[in-house]
Amino acid sequence: MKYFLIILCLLFPSLLLAHGKDEHSEKQAKKMMSMHNNKQQMKQMHSNINQEYKKYVRPIFKAKCFDCHGEVEKYPWYIKLPGIKQLMEYDIRESKKHLDMTNDYPFGGHGEPLNDIESIRKAVEEGTMPPLRYRLAHWDSRLNKEEKKVLKEWIDSAKELLTK
Ligand code: HEC
Repeated sequence: MKYFLIILCLLFPSLLLAHGKDEHSEKQAKKMMSMHNNKQQMKQMHSNINQEYKKYVRPIFKAKCFDCHGEVEKYPWYIKLPGIKQLMEYDIRESKKHLDMTNDYPFGGHGEPLNDIESIRKAVEEGTMPPLRYRLAHWDSRLNKEEKKVLKEWIDSAKELLTK
């Protein structure tokens, strides 16, 4: 009987380890579950921020930022002027590398959501976007007080969620 057990364990070392392994895989499973839950939570949070974005912020960005950062619906007449088309295409390409608003929040481009929000806050506060050359051609494209207030509220609440 003794020999039989020894042979059995030699043949199936997993019998000896079975218990330890169970514990291990249970831990692993728990870890996977919590990673999964974290992912779900992140997803939910981004979706909440996006809902607010679509309701309050998107209309402003559509009017004042999408010409470069998003989907251009209609090119202006002056695109026919010499050199203008190249300039606009350059703007669209460059701006989207930094911040692509085409598919709403979280934005495309090279930044993480929190960085994007921070750089939007900066651009809005410092009045650097839309760029001056664009504002000259679109005299109403500067962000007004009301719009800045709406943007600030969204930015603050998104930042709070993202840094919780
Ligand atoms: C005329 C085209 C144009 C419009 C309109 C425009 N942008 Fe930009 N934006 C750019 C370009 C080009 C860049 C990349 C180069 C740079 O930073 O100047 C950029 C970069 C940015 C960045 C990233 C800066 C960084 O440091 O990564 C932010 C944020 C931004 N824009 C926000 C906005 C917002 C918000 C609006 C609307 C209120 C807007 N932009 C409108 C052309 C535009």
